[in-house]
Formats: sequence, structure tokens, C-alpha cells
Amino acid sequence: MNLNRHVLTLDEFTIQQLRQFPQATGELSSLLRDIGLAAKRVNVEVNKAGLVDILGDAGSVNVQGEDVKKLDIYANNQFMGVLQHGISCAGIASEEIDDFIAFNDNVSKNSKYVCLFDPLDGSGNIDVNVSIGTIFGVYRRVSPRGSIAVKDDFLQKGLQQVAAGYIVYGSSTMLVYGTRRGVNGFTLDPSIGEFTMSHPDIKCPPNGKIYSVNHGNFFRYGKGVQKYIDACQRKDKTNGGPYTQRYIGSMVSDVHRNLIKGGIFMYPGTIEKPKGKLRLLYECNPFAFIVEVAGGKATNGKERILEIQPTELHQRTPMFIGSRDMMAELEGCLSEAEN
Ligand code: AHG
Ligand code: MN
Ligand code: MN
Repeated sequence: MNLNRHVLTLDEFTIQQLRQFPQATGELSSLLRDIGLAAKRVNVEVNKAGLVDILGDAGSVNVQGEDVKKLDIYANNQFMGVLQHGISCAGIASEEIDDFIAFNDNVSKNSKYVCLFDPLDGSGNIDVNVSIGTIFGVYRRVSPRGSIAVKDDFLQKGLQQVAAGYIVYGSSTMLVYGTRRGVNGFTLDPSIGEFTMSHPDIKCPPNGKIYSVNHGNFFRYGKGVQKYIDACQRKDKTNGGPYTQRYIGSMVSDVHRNLIKGGIFMYPGTIEKPKGKLRLLYECNPFAFIVEVAGGKATNGKERILEIQPTELHQRTPMFIGSRDMMAELEGCLSEAEN
């Protein structure tokens, strides 16, 4: 064992990246550091969830009409707090807040970025000790620096993301983030309380054997999706199978696993909900960005997720995301069903 081996922390890595661009201001590094800090605080509470009275409904309903758990609110406040008091973020939008929030102090008004996030994804899984996560996307604001952030700063196409990431609070806690230059994963080392580089330059395998979808909705999906699921179930040795169905019900964990191992994750529209369940701005766009940078694909069944022009902060979209070749086979099924 090489005892001198130096494992990079998240902060060291972002600073190392920054040093390669002499003209860079360090604002993105600082924003990622803020997010890392909030993630560590949320991680502590997630780990205590079974012990302390933080479990259960907070007694309110979020803007999507869903029950809000106490940890959702805690996580929301932690992420919002670090961004508001940092030096890089002009405003935020969150799953838990109806409208965007533009920070009104001078430092924030002069900041370069806005951040959109789902503070706790998969929160229905908290009380049964199953992995949950946080998702975030970062954009350069379109409004001038010095002024207060406006709605158009938040309604940008996913393609405009400068960085996107997620945190998985799982058997270990990981922060994965991507910029156009690549995707890197950091695992929280509890002995030093730092995210340390564990998965450098993540690439999504071009093919895989895992498909992730809520099978309970099978008869509510369109013909093309049914056809693809049927094809997944019929795979055998002769055509790359057998495939395995895996669905945790926390998108962060499902997509993270498929990103590392190869696979496809689908949340299609249904008869009752043609736009599905997932939110474009702070659930689908960050993952679409990360998976595409890693070599995979993400669509709504018709167009690339990253090219959808948002019109509402909380708009939903069907989502298909994963390994390149699996996505190609899905797209074949979808277009055959249309014709
Ligand atoms: P959230 O907890 O932020 O509301 O999101 C949960 C989402 C997503 O993580 C997951 O993939 C999906 O809901 C599961 O939905 P179904 O139970 O309908 O399959
Ligand atoms: Mn969510
Ligand atoms: Mn959530």
C-alpha cells in the first residue's frame, strides 16, 4: 500500500480545476463548496432520521400538492441558506418553494449564478431507511450582474447548465457533479468529514442490463413504452440478456446506479398524467446534463431533455435516460408505435 497516496478532496479538486483557468473568478468552486457543506449537514440529519423526531409529515403540503416531510424542509433550508450567504448565487428555485427567490443583498445581486434544486428526492423512502438524494443544476444568470435575479434566469434550457450534480445519502454518501469537462464522484469520508475523490471521470457504459421503471403503471403507459419493457423482459443470451429490473423509487439512486453500471431509467407519461411525475428543471435537467456529459442520452420520448424550453418552474416531463444503446432501442420502439 502506498501510504503517501494523496486522495483529493472536493475542495482541492475544484481549486485544482480553477487553477487551469487563470481568468476564472472561483465563484463556481465556491458555490460547489457551499453545496458540499449543506450536503454534509443534511447527511447528518438523514443519518439520524430513525432516531430523532425529525421523521414524518411536517403537516404541510408542497407546491406540487404532495405531503412534505420534515427533512424536506430541513434540507431546503440548508441548501438555500448556504447559497444565500455565499458569494456566488443570485437566487434559487426549489421543489419546495412555489416561486423562485432572488437574494436581495449586494453580494448576491452581484453574483454570477442561479441554482435550482430538489433538496430531498425520494423522500417517501426516508422512513423505511432507503437511499434518498439531492439534485441541483447551476446556470449563469441572463440578467445583468448588479441587478436582482429574474424569472428568465431560471427558465433556461438545460443545455445552458454550467454544472449539475446530485448527492446520494446511501450506504455511503456521495456527491457527483459534472461540468462540460467531465463528471466526477466524491465519497464522504466520515473520518475527516470531507468528500474525497472516489470516482474520477465517470463514463456511462454504452450498454447495460438494468432497466428501471414503475411496473405498476405498465397498462397506463403508451404502446411504445410497453413494447420496450416487453423487449427488456424477453432478452436472453442471444440478444444481450437477461436484463434485470431494478427500481428503488428514489430517482437519484436509480439513475446513479445505472450511470455507473449501465442501464436505463424511465418515468413515462401515463393515461392520467401524460407528463409523468418528474420535474424538468430540478430533477430531469441536472441528470440529463450529467448523463450526457458521461456519454449517455436523455429524452422525453420525442426530444432531448436539455433542449426543452421551460415555461414554468415546476413543469413536469416524461423522462427516459441512460446508456446510449439502450436508449437507441427504446427510441426505435417509441417511433414504431407512432407509425
Ligand atoms: P420527490 O421525493 O422529490 O417527490 O421525488 C420522488 C420521485 C423520484 O425520485 C422517483 O423516481 C419517483 O418519484 C418515484 O415515483 P413512483 O412512486 O410514482 O414510481
Ligand atoms: Mn424529487
Ligand atoms: Mn423532493
